Amino acid sequence: MDPMLSYVLENTEFIDRKLQEYMSNGNPLLKVLQESINYTLFSGGKRIRPLFCFIVGELFGLRRDKLVSLACALEMIHTASLIMDDLPHMDNAMTRRGKPANHVIYGQDVAALASIGLLTRAYEVVLNDPGLSGEKKSRVVCKLANVVGIDGMVGGQFVDLKFSNKAMDHATLDYIHTHKTAVLFAASGTTTAIIGDATEVEAQALEVYANNIGFAFQIADDLLDALGNTDEVGKPLKRDSGNFVMLHGVEKSKQVLQEHSNRAREAIQLFQGRNDKLIALGHMLLRRKS
Ligand code: IPE
Ligand code: IPE
Ligand code: MG
Ligand code: MG
Ligand code: MG
Repeated sequence: MDPMLSYVLENTEFIDRKLQEYMSNGNPLLKVLQESINYTLFSGGKRIRPLFCFIVGELFGLRRDKLVSLACALEMIHTASLIMDDLPHMDNAMTRRGKPANHVIYGQDVAALASIGLLTRAYEVVLNDPGLSGEKKSRVVCKLANVVGIDGMVGGQFVDLKFSNKAMDHATLDYIHTHKTAVLFAASGTTTAIIGDATEVEAQALEVYANNIGFAFQIADDLLDALGNTDEVGKPLKRDSGNFVMLHGVEKSKQVLQEHSNRAREAIQLFQGRNDKLIALGHMLLRRKS
């Protein structure tokens, strides 16, 4: 098997196991809430952000045990954002990963609580990690809260909902891509760099890499929206009110995606000789079909 593929499979299994541990709650009163959380948390997510975290960690000689609370927190935040994104008053999407969206099965009330439950558990698992110093925990959680909140994903989703249309200006589109998607990618790198005691220069290089990959990742998502096959992509397509492809067209979008991908690659030259997995991850993300 391709070594990158076996790396991904092995680590995905590990992440799934740990997510079960961190999220499980035996209270019978909460059974349906737990089912709603598990429904989206274990429905075939690619686990890109935790994998990115582990791969960056290797650059600093960090074993995955040292990073697992952060890796799972990133996936919890991401899953929470997907449940919320699909809600009727947001994107009103009925499917996710080829299955009915969370609210379609559990109702909007339970889905909203599942999303907030995942989000808050993310901070809790990092703060409860006995393997991290108090100083690192507070820096990591502060960064996570910042990229989730008004300055990050919440702001990006707001601008997407309220201002995205086929005639929006480039600055608005740029804001949406950066804040709704790229910031969580970038934070996966920067928070790992905090735990790994990265130098300023290393942390900066990782941030440039992750911002560019994150931005390109959303262009890839918009290209899938325009060109993908609904069954393969697993979510409703051509429903965005405005996106990169609508503004720039397919060819230009592919070109800009490539430019961001090149910039990402250049940024990690610094880690030459040890950056193969980071490069492979970039390829995997930008060539995805779902
Ligand atoms: C989809 O993200 C939402 C965007 C930010 C574009 P992913 O493609 O990482 O979603 P899953 O978890 O693998 O389904
Ligand atoms: C997703 O953007 C961004 C977040 C979930 C934060 P989209 O609305 O484009 O994502 P999909 O296409 O529903 O996965
Ligand atoms: Mg959306
Ligand atoms: Mg959506
Ligand atoms: Mg989309």
